[in-house]
Amino acid sequence: MPQKTTRIGLIGYGQIGAEVHKMIDQDPNNGMKVVFVHDQLEQRLAELPGDLVLRDLGDFATKEPDLVVEMAHADVTRQWGERLLEKTNYMLISVTALADREIEKMLEETTRKHGTRAFLPHGGVVGMDALLENRDVWDEVHSIMKKPPKNVDCAAAGVDPDSVTEEKVLYDGPTRGVCPLFPRNTNTLAAIAYAGIGFDRTHSTLIVNPEWDTATVEIHAKGGGITLDVSRVEGITGVTGASTPASIFNTVQMIGSTGPGIHIR
Ligand SMILES: NC(=O)c1ccc[n+]([C@@H]2O[C@H](COP(=O)([O-])OP(=O)(O)OC[C@H]3O[C@@H](n4cnc5c(N)ncnc54)[C@H](O)[C@@H]3O)[C@@H](O)[C@H]2O)c1
Repeated sequence: MPQKTTRIGLIGYGQIGAEVHKMIDQDPNNGMKVVFVHDQLEQRLAELPGDLVLRDLGDFATKEPDLVVEMAHADVTRQWGERLLEKTNYMLISVTALADREIEKMLEETTRKHGTRAFLPHGGVVGMDALLENRDVWDEVHSIMKKPPKNVDCAAAGVDPDSVTEEKVLYDGPTRGVCPLFPRNTNTLAAIAYAGIGFDRTHSTLIVNPEWDTATVEIHAKGGGITLDVSRVEGITGVTGASTPASIFNTVQMIGSTGPGIHIR
């Protein structure tokens, strides 16, 4: 059976983007080909072959991608989501973008109008399948994130992470409110809300402690006679947990791979 190659464009070539690129290229039989890489910082792309570098994202359609993957910042979806989805499929990993109702509506409407598809990865959410499949039965969902303050980008919240000397709750309330305050850190909380009972009904708590050197995400959901309790503790570099690049690659593969083999869904 002839195999179609999925042409993939990457936006953001930091910790996750560079790793995901490597993983896509590792298996030449996976039916995926990276056709462009874009980053706002040109020096990030210095080692790449010139024909892969896309300086102006406005030229993305000339590369004829089947899927564009954002691994940069929620601002990319705000600025480019509509134009990308008018022409091709789009996966956004900076899921906090969806806490803005206007962006969610724009993504929904553009895909409907142009017959394209938007994708969210489970990313740091362990058990996203269980949250999603039971989204109609949950009475309550509480997501808790614990991180060292130095790994939290507090700029939008106006908090100086160096001033935190003991355990401190930075946020406690509906998930909708935490995303604009810590947009680079709360993608996992946003994905939990989106997969489950939504940004307004899901309760989120963000706690920092300078004595911690790991990141923890806990999910507690209850309803319809079901209780779901999940917790994962992992190392963290910058704003990203150790397991994230492999997780994002796995989702790219689920969407884009056309290679042979037995595939888990
Ligand atoms: N969904 C998840 O589970 C999850 C988990 C961790 C991180 N993230 C998000 O993924 C993104 C990337 O994380 P990372 O650890 O690789 O970050 P990083 O800082 O290492 O890399 C981000 C890269 O994107 C580029 N960039 C930022 N804004 C841009 C823009 N507007 N246009 C073009 N390029 C831009 C930066 O120059 C940088 O090279 C962040 O938004 C982060 O919050 C999501």
